[in-house]
Amino acid sequence: MTVIDKKALIEKRVNEGLKGQWYPVCKSVEVKTSKPYGTKLLGQKLVLWRDGAGKIRCLEDFCPHRGAPLSYGEVHGGNVACRYHGVVVDGDGVVQQVPAMPECALEGRKALQSYTVQESNDAVFVYVPSADRPEPPELALPKELTSDEWTGFLCTSVWETNYRYALDNLADPMHGCYLHAESFTLAYGSKQDLMQLNKTEDGFRIERVSQTGENFDWTEFEIHDGSMFCFLDIPYPPAAGPGGVFRIIGFTTPVDETTCRVFFWRMRKVEDTARESWRFLYRAVLETNHWNVLEQDRVMLEGMPDDARRREMLYQHDLGVSRIRQILTRAAKAQVEAELKSEQMAAE
Ligand code: FES
Ligand SMILES: [Fe+2]
Repeated sequence: MTVIDKKALIEKRVNEGLKGQWYPVCKSVEVKTSKPYGTKLLGQKLVLWRDGAGKIRCLEDFCPHRGAPLSYGEVHGGNVACRYHGVVVDGDGVVQQVPAMPECALEGRKALQSYTVQESNDAVFVYVPSADRPEPPELALPKELTSDEWTGFLCTSVWETNYRYALDNLADPMHGCYLHAESFTLAYGSKQDLMQLNKTEDGFRIERVSQTGENFDWTEFEIHDGSMFCFLDIPYPPAAGPGGVFRIIGFTTPVDETTCRVFFWRMRKVEDTARESWRFLYRAVLETNHWNVLEQDRVMLEGMPDDARRREMLYQHDLGVSRIRQILTRAAKAQVEAELKSEQMAAE
């Protein structure tokens, strides 16, 4: 393999999305015991459903008989049944029943890849194995999602753009005071600054040099074995009700090369009765504002050409964008090299 071929493989992996990662794929409520749910992750079609115990199962969305999408089928006795000719597959990808054919040899065969699933904070996370990390590591979550002091809401949306643009957008706080200038909470502060990037224990922080606490002034990324997320604070005026900072936790999930799904938990550190009043206010008033801001991001990113990267001219503010790309490329390189090595060993 030439250096150029390897570079192309690495670029392809970054574009499709890293393996060896946990990704949120949908909201918990979207996966039911009554009907399978179909989605895509890293270009692979997946089917999810709840078995008899309510546990979520996940397989490639492909019937072992002739390839019909299992997500068009039904859930029967905790397994998924294909709509086309009724073949039943369990959550481990083993064919349980071929109702149309007595004593069919397909029964008992492990035919499909199954995926490890974990539910957390109203979302369903799926682990995509890689050659260098075939077994799922523990799902590392932001502290705001594991502590009782915080409360919040998950909001998720499908964007018709490669996930890299969504990540770049999060690593670029300077867009806040331009793109979102008209919004309820992001209309403050100066429109000119420099950026600085600092290492943190688990990743990095990109922030404005001369402004903090006024607007969307910084983002922190945490990179763990098997998961990556970011968080940022939105300063809230008193009209936004009780509680401390309003924090956004962001995960971006590569659906396929031209689509991603973003997951934002909007969290506030607020307890007791103040918690209830904030939750009420959020649902009644604030949520619409936040959807409007997210829509501004979506429209902007969807309007950018897929290959914008080839012609872009970065400047000092894009330190965070460069860093996130470097992190993805390094991880993709390690994965591609591990795959090439195991292919080579298998061939010897
Ligand atoms: S394709 Fe699924 S049962 Fe035939
Ligand atoms: Fe934004």
